[in-house]
Amino acid sequence: MSFLSRSKFSFASLLLILLFHSSPCDALTKCCITSLFQFGDSIADAGNVIRIPGAVTSAQSWGSPYGETFFHKPTGRFSDGRIIADYIASSLNLPFLNPYLDKSGVSFSQGVNFGVAGATAMNNSFLAKRNVAVVPYNVPLPSQLEWFKSHLNSTCGFNCARTLQNSLVVLGEFGGVDYWNSFAGNKGDPEVRTYVPFIIDGILSAIRELIQLGSTRILVPGVFPFGCLSAYLTRFPNKNPNAYDQFGCLRSYNNFATYHNTKLKGALENLQCEFPRVKIVYGDYYGAFRLIFRYAPWLGFNTSTLVSACCGAGGPYNFNFSAGCGSSSAKACPNPSQYVNWDGLHLTDEAYHRISNVIINNMFPKFGCYGLGNSSVLSSY
Ligand SMILES: *[C@@H]1O[C@H](CO)[C@@H](O)[C@H](O)[C@H]1NC(C)=O
Ligand SMILES: *[C@@H]1O[C@H](CO)[C@@H](O)[C@H](O)[C@H]1NC(C)=O
Ligand SMILES: *[C@@H]1O[C@H](CO)[C@@H](O)[C@H](O)[C@H]1NC(C)=O
Ligand SMILES: *[C@@H]1O[C@H](CO)[C@@H](O)[C@H](O)[C@H]1NC(C)=O
Repeated sequence: MSFLSRSKFSFASLLLILLFHSSPCDALTKCCITSLFQFGDSIADAGNVIRIPGAVTSAQSWGSPYGETFFHKPTGRFSDGRIIADYIASSLNLPFLNPYLDKSGVSFSQGVNFGVAGATAMNNSFLAKRNVAVVPYNVPLPSQLEWFKSHLNSTCGFNCARTLQNSLVVLGEFGGVDYWNSFAGNKGDPEVRTYVPFIIDGILSAIRELIQLGSTRILVPGVFPFGCLSAYLTRFPNKNPNAYDQFGCLRSYNNFATYHNTKLKGALENLQCEFPRVKIVYGDYYGAFRLIFRYAPWLGFNTSTLVSACCGAGGPYNFNFSAGCGSSSAKACPNPSQYVNWDGLHLTDEAYHRISNVIINNMFPKFGCYGLGNSSVLSSY
């Protein structure tokens, strides 16, 4: 694995693609992934929350400058362009997934995006019992699964096992919203840590249900290094310089994220043993994020603004809760591709691109897809 050597698109993989181009599975003959189903929160939302009547997010993804870099208009994605779900779809030669709530007649024949901004892993009653706020329009993981079942019922009916056999499910990340809402509601680490086993259990139950429905490949991403997000850095400033790491990230929130991720990874390994015929792959969003920080100068990111948002209304991290990206007092930087943080909680098209490369290159062999990956973080899909 040499991320620094710009490894080229090999002649052999070109040949493979040419050879199999006419087969029904296209380039991905080894895997035959013909559809993709995405679940998650605002990191995965491609236009669901903006279609929920009355839903108001502080990051105003329905308006400009969201989408400016790639789509040249807002799509509801929380980025200046594409999100990880888009890069995964492209790597499978699939079109970008349409959001489930788009009822304008768009195609869902190659998959659906169920991700909704603000979505928690846990249901409302679990969080209410612990005094953790949720958005009124919350569509938590169990509800997204209900959407999925209803979608299957209305599209493939009794034939869904076959559809799912040739699909990839991306489950998450989940937990990011549960934790943010808890910390922002002044809950301390010891208490929030007690939610972790419940959240992991919630994710595991969802995986079991997906397997029961016929899913055979499931990617389960972990959470981002929370302490590197402008929103956390703004909300939880610390006078002690040792509270920050070499990139300026808050160590304690990164440690918390690592705690969740380690538990999740372990739980997935156990579940994999239980279902040897299904491939359950951990998606290391945390590691990929840290990798782009480490190689930021080589990747064209500006190292002096690594933890600042590109789009915001000023402040030490260019993040302000009462003036989110999309509001009239916020504006975007002229060079989003040099930034990792886009609006303080979500990343730029370029950061998602680099993170996706790591995730995709790691997952392909694990799902039994060979001859496609390009083992470089510098590669472009
Ligand atoms: C909410 O989640 C908890 C924990 O997973 C579960 O015990 C409870 O039955 C759920 N409640 C509802 C109404 O679904
Ligand atoms: C499945 O679809 C059928 C026919 O469209 C409908 O009658 C039934 O209520 C649906 N079931 C579920 C669980 O959505
Ligand atoms: C990086 O960002 C700093 C602070 O905004 C700016 O002064 C500098 O010119 C930028 N560097 C490059 C190479 O754009
Ligand atoms: C945040 O934005 C609000 C509303 O525009 C403004 O009144 C406030 O001064 C800003 N806070 C900081 C710290 O910049």
